Amino acid sequence: MMRRKFVAGNWKMNGNLAALAELDAIGASLEATVDVAIAVPATLIHPAAARAKFPIGAEDVHGQDSGAHTGDVSVPMVKEAGANFSIVGHSERRQGHGETDADVKAKAEACRRHGLDAILCVGETLEQRSAGEAEAVVTAQVLASLPDGAGGDWLAIAYEPIWAIGTGQVATVADVEAMHAAIRAALVKALGEETGQAIRLLYGGSVTAENAPGLLHAAEVDGALVGGASLTAAKFVPIIRAAIA
Ligand code: PGA
Repeated sequence: MMRRKFVAGNWKMNGNLAALAELDAIGASLEATVDVAIAVPATLIHPAAARAKFPIGAEDVHGQDSGAHTGDVSVPMVKEAGANFSIVGHSERRQGHGETDADVKAKAEACRRHGLDAILCVGETLEQRSAGEAEAVVTAQVLASLPDGAGGDWLAIAYEPIWAIGTGQVATVADVEAMHAAIRAALVKALGEETGQAIRLLYGGSVTAENAPGLLHAAEVDGALVGGASLTAAKFVPIIRAAIA
C-alpha cells in the first residue's frame, strides 16, 4: 500500500509570536509528495494557523468538549482557533500528567467527533526495552489507546521510544523497522487488512537532518514526529526534503 510521507513537528513548550516567522520559511519549502504539519502551544495555534501554508495542530486536547477542567483545552476550542489536528498520548503527557491509555483513546475519539486528525503516540522506557518487553508494551499501548473509528484518513500513530526523545540517542533503523512491523501487524489484526494498512506509522525521537534519510525510508516508516529539529526552518526543511520518495 502506498502511504504518503508525513513529517510532523512538535514545538512542545517552546516558541513565541516572533518564532512564527519560521513557519514562513517552512511554508516556502513544502514538497508536493510530503505532508507537513506542526503542533504548537495552545496560545500560538490561532496566529500560527492564520499564517502557515500547512496544517497547524494542538499538542494535546481534553477528551471532553467542555466542563470543570481547569487549565485544559477541548477539541472544539483548538478547532475554533484553527487547529486541523492534535497530538494525543505523547509520553510527556502520559508520564508527566499521568495520562492512561483510556484517556488517550478518549482524546483521539474527541478529535474524530469534531473532524480533527490525530497523531497518537506510543513508546517504551529504556527499562522496558532492556527487559526485552518493548514490542509487547508498545503493541499493548496501541491496542488500548486505539480510538473507535480508527482510520488512515484521520489517524496516524507515532512510535516514540521514551529514551530517544530529546536525548540525541536515536533508535537504530533495525529497531524502528521491527517495532513498526509489530505495530502494523497489531493494527491489521485489530482493524482488518485495509484499515490496518492505511494508518501511517511515524517514528519520533531525536530525528535530525542527518538521520532522517535512513529513518524515513525504512520499511513501514511513513514519516516522522520531530521535536527539537522542528523549531527552525533550517533544521526542519532538510527533514521534509529527506522524505521525498
Ligand atoms: P525530539 O522530540 O525530536 O526533540 O526528540 C520528539 C517528540 O517528543 O515528539
